[in-house]
Formats: sequence, structure tokens, C-alpha cells
Amino acid sequence: MLIKRPDDVRPSEITPRSVYEDRRQFLFGAAGALALAGGGALPGAAHAQVREKIAGLRPAPAAYTVKEPLNTYEQITSYVNFYEFGTDKSDPLRNSKNFRTRPWTVEVDGEVRKPRTFGIDDLLKLAPVEERIYRLRCVEAWSMIVPWAGYSLSELIRQVEPTANAKFVEFHTLHDPKQMPGQKDPVLQWPYVEGLRIDEAMHPLTLLGLGLYGELLPNPNGAPVRLVVPWKYGFKSGKSIVRIRFVEKMPTTAWMRSAPNEYGFYSNVNPKVDHPRWSQARERRIGEFLKRETLMFNGYAEQVASLYTGMDLRKQF
Ligand code: MTE
Repeated sequence: MLIKRPDDVRPSEITPRSVYEDRRQFLFGAAGALALAGGGALPGAAHAQVREKIAGLRPAPAAYTVKEPLNTYEQITSYVNFYEFGTDKSDPLRNSKNFRTRPWTVEVDGEVRKPRTFGIDDLLKLAPVEERIYRLRCVEAWSMIVPWAGYSLSELIRQVEPTANAKFVEFHTLHDPKQMPGQKDPVLQWPYVEGLRIDEAMHPLTLLGLGLYGELLPNPNGAPVRLVVPWKYGFKSGKSIVRIRFVEKMPTTAWMRSAPNEYGFYSNVNPKVDHPRWSQARERRIGEFLKRETLMFNGYAEQVASLYTGMDLRKQF
């Protein structure tokens, strides 16, 4: 991001669906039960976090899921941007091992009639948790296919009843330099803040992410709760959220503050608008060798283009 130019990624296997199904059988079977009962990590688990499956996970409606080969659990957890745990892709897996994600609360306030603080267990029960397979397109011109678990953020928003003044929504990551060593480095102004317009936040594709690969979120991917906005560059999807605030004015996000000429508020995936330092026309799917063309709105144009009717997407990037 800031930062680094698009990386050249080593090609390796991408998980086909059938392998994932077999893997899930394994994870949800004897080994999964063992991990739950014993409280220990699965054999071979890459980090100390207990891997816990999500109860009652159901498939998402077809409109909310893509049919493309999945990236592996290992790729998704080890090739990551989470600057609170370091700026190298491999840092978060190593440095978030002992990150405490329980107890955890998310304060929802600002321009709402019913401000409320949700515990993580409240959030897991608030709505049926779906598996949604989304494309993730990072601003650094790489991409992945991730089987997230969660539900539309709109389910939570309805609970707090935004007022007519709620035009935007801010998302704040935990600020705790003792646990998040990257926050000792002023690479960004902490805490990490991201934002959406209220209609973007209410769009059914906007996911309150609680897990991936059928399990609670791994620490490097923003445990215990994060945002996933699949038609925007990855940095819009804030991780490890502790506060959601409804506001009248457009928030200044962490990336806008850090480099306003490089990162705009909208940050919709747009192959026609280059980043000042590199092209956004193509991307490398992690695990593949050849680059592929980047799709407008990351391939979700049919569902989201109408949110931006009449806007000049070169100016409002
Ligand atoms: N959220 C926080 N709090 N800190 C970060 O550094 N990085 C962003 C986003 N969310 C980031 C963050 C970026 S640049 C990307 S590409 C995605 O997380 C990557 O997350 P994932 O690989 O877990 O999907």
C-alpha cells in the first residue's frame, strides 16, 4: 500500500472446491471436535489461535457468491495486509499469535436512535451466518478468492436505527499498541479508520465478516470481526473492529490522511483509474502465474454500479 509496489507472487496451488469440501469434512469431523473439546490448535495449525468452527453456517444465495477456485487457507492467512501487526505480508501471522479476541465488544453509536454495544457472541447470533465466496482485490494489484462467513452489515445497522443525519459510517480498529506492535510505528495514524457511505454500508453485499473457511476469523484476517466490501480495494475492509459510528460528514480515513493523492474515500475497484504509482488494469491472482484483467467494481458492477450513477469516478476515486 503506502508503500509497496505490487508484488510478484510465487505461483502455487489454488484450492478447487472439491478439495475444500474434503478439507471441511476433515475440519468439521474428528479433528475439529478434538480442537473444540481440548481447546488446542489443530495438528499442523500454523498459529496458536484455536480454530473453532462456526455453528449453523449456511450457504449464501447465489447472487452473493462467486464460483471460482478458492485460495487456500494458508495463502489467505499468510499473505496479508494488517499493518497493526507489521508491514510485511508474513508479519501478521507471526505477530498476531497471542492477540486476544475475547472478550470483545463493538460499540455502535453516533447518529442512531438506539446506540448499543454488541459482544462478539451477540454478533455471532444476530443473524444467520452465511458462507459467501467473494473476490478480494488488493490495491497492490493482487487478488484472492475467499470463502468468508458472515451476514450483511445491514442486519446490524437495522438494530440501531440510524437517524436521517446518518450519511456515512466509520469503522474503527482496536488501538492497543501492547498487543499490536505495528501501532508503535507511525506508518499510519492509529487507530485504523475506514468509512462507507450509508447506502454502501446498507448494500446486501457488504459483509460483517466473522469467519473464513467455515471457522471463526483467524487473527491475521481481522479477528474477531471485520468488514468485507468486495467491490472496493481491500483496504476499505477494516479489520478487528471495535467501533462503528454513524456520522453526517464524510470521514477522513487512515489512508486518505496518509496519502490523499493516492487513496480516495470511495476506492472502488476501477481498472480505468490508475494508482499514481502503478496501473490498476491487471492483477495477479495469488497462486497463479499469468496476470488477469481487473474487472470494473471487481466484477460486481451489476449489483453495485447504480450506487454511483452520475458520479465522475475519476474525480471521486
Ligand atoms: N484493516 C486494518 N485494521 N489494518 C490494515 O492494515 N489492511 C487492508 C484491509 N484491512 C488493513 C485492514 C488491506 S490493504 C487489505 S488488502 C485487506 O485488509 C487484506 O485483508 P485479508 O487479506 O485478510 O482479506
